[in-house]
Amino acid sequence: MKLICCNFKMNLLETDIDNYLKAINNKINQENVIFFPSIPYIKKFTNFNYIVGSQDISFTDFGSITGDTSILQLKELGISYTIIGHSERRKYYNDDKYISKKIAIALKNNIKVILCIGESQKLAIEDTLEFLKNQIDEAFVNNKDLITNNNLIIAYEPIWSIGSGLIPSNNCLQETILLIKKHIFDTYKLNIKVLYGGSVNLDNIDNLNAIKEIDGYLIGDASLKSSNILEINSRIN
Ligand code: PGA
Repeated sequence: MKLICCNFKMNLLETDIDNYLKAINNKINQENVIFFPSIPYIKKFTNFNYIVGSQDISFTDFGSITGDTSILQLKELGISYTIIGHSERRKYYNDDKYISKKIAIALKNNIKVILCIGESQKLAIEDTLEFLKNQIDEAFVNNKDLITNNNLIIAYEPIWSIGSGLIPSNNCLQETILLIKKHIFDTYKLNIKVLYGGSVNLDNIDNLNAIKEIDGYLIGDASLKSSNILEINSRIN
């Protein structure tokens, strides 16, 4: 079953969240939809037994790091997943250098990781692959003993596709995802799931669903409307 990951980013206020929860009540498959709301609203989702993740974590568990949130604190809110390395964190918070540490801290605390990777501009397939391999290796190399087939999922999100309405062609996407899986299998002997993210919406979901190598989606903008998620969910299952 394909996963649907709803990344709300820094959107929606308390009443919006309450209305959202009312609208999806009992209509969502609790096993394949994961919500990533802002931290103040995580508990509202876990109270209804939805699977919930955080959009990021600190690279350390406790300490003098103003503004960060510890994975131990997020666990108390009920998360079971965290996104790591979203391109917006990499861009605004220089996150590249913390990715490996963040993965380690999440996995040691039994929190599953959605690791985002993606090139910033359209490149030839060989160059894209080279770039993605580097991002994967930076994340995997020190965590080989911690990563299993079930505790880490890659989200392939070409940065040029996020929020732009542009998505790669089916052929290109299929080839890239196969090559990501092949690199991880050849190098680390792991069968890791790969999601696609970037402008996924009601208009392109049927087309994307045709690519069987895609194990699910990380959805930003379109996930902010509960009706979109209900519809996407019904078209997937
Ligand atoms: P988008 O965002 O669906 O709005 O393009 C996806 C993401 O950034 O995860």
